[in-house]
Amino acid sequence: MLTLGIETSCDDSGVALLRDGHEIVCEYLSSQIKDHSKFGGVIPEFAARKHLENLLPLIAAAVKDYKSEINLIAVTRGPGLMGSLMVGVQTAIALSQAWGINLIGVNHIEGHLFAPLIENENLKPPFLSVIISGGHSEVILVKNFGEYEFLGGTRDDAAGEAYDKVAKILGLEYPGGPIIDKLARSGNDKAFNFPVPLKNTNDIEFSFSGLKTAVLWQVKKLVENNLSVPVEDICASFQKAVINSLISKIKLAVKLTGIKNVTISGGVAANSELREKLSAQKNFKIYLPEKSRCTDNAAMIALAGYNAYSRGVRTKNLTADPSLELC
Ligand code: KG4
Ligand code: ZN
Repeated sequence: MLTLGIETSCDDSGVALLRDGHEIVCEYLSSQIKDHSKFGGVIPEFAARKHLENLLPLIAAAVKDYKSEINLIAVTRGPGLMGSLMVGVQTAIALSQAWGINLIGVNHIEGHLFAPLIENENLKPPFLSVIISGGHSEVILVKNFGEYEFLGGTRDDAAGEAYDKVAKILGLEYPGGPIIDKLARSGNDKAFNFPVPLKNTNDIEFSFSGLKTAVLWQVKKLVENNLSVPVEDICASFQKAVINSLISKIKLAVKLTGIKNVTISGGVAANSELREKLSAQKNFKIYLPEKSRCTDNAAMIALAGYNAYSRGVRTKNLTADPSLELC
């Protein structure tokens, strides 16, 4: 079975071919980061137009040698930006009709949930899935594929959103995660004592908005006192607070559920220090996607779609849904 995956929910156009749920035959990604970084964030209308330009050449490259073998198209139908989602969904509908093959709509969050399974196909439910991206910070109990229980999430900003906002405060590029990750390596994480959000609560919940405000006040104070802003130290101290918060709540989720297999995905899962610290944990086993498949990609959409299709899930009247929920 050969599945064509299509991802266009935000600012990355992704296309991948997946054979039998485990072999990535090819994958292509066209990132719009450079187009949007000058605006400090994603401009939805512009993102949709860029998908229109970028998507078809990627599909043409991917299917060139395989068109007659493709049996299924899996496309992200939400959540995400309406214009961006529509480009992927309408393209997928047109191709499935022209080629006479089946089509399945995929929840983008479920795509992220499946990303660590590309390299760990033997991992079976139940397990905990922690999704930390630009739009989501969620802990999900995977009872079975397709059967998910929301255990907790963020009260306000998502983890990646906090990285992006702190980068903006520091005058760094969008997206903030990769650059803060890099600068933090040469900073002193004890230089500033930023609060670890909700450290002492016994609930699986995150809050990153107050942490971002603490960084803002610190920078203001330094500037008002004509002191230089030690960007590396602020990055390291901010990142330490984010990672402590994430790891303490993952530990709490393991303790409350008794489940010791934990997958981590979403853009923030690419963070080098977080990956190191998680991999060193003794009380639970961590499954991480390859760094390039933490952020948005089509291989994870192809796998989520293939898995659902194999379970008998069928999509009727596919439409884009910007606020689609997982559970
Ligand atoms: O999963 P993703 O590509 O898009 C969403 O579905 O949101 O995640 C993008 C987010 C951005 O907020 C970006 O700053 C963050 O992931 N990110 C990182 C790193 N790489 C990307 N955050 C921390 N460290 C990184 N290395
Ligand atoms: Zn995503």
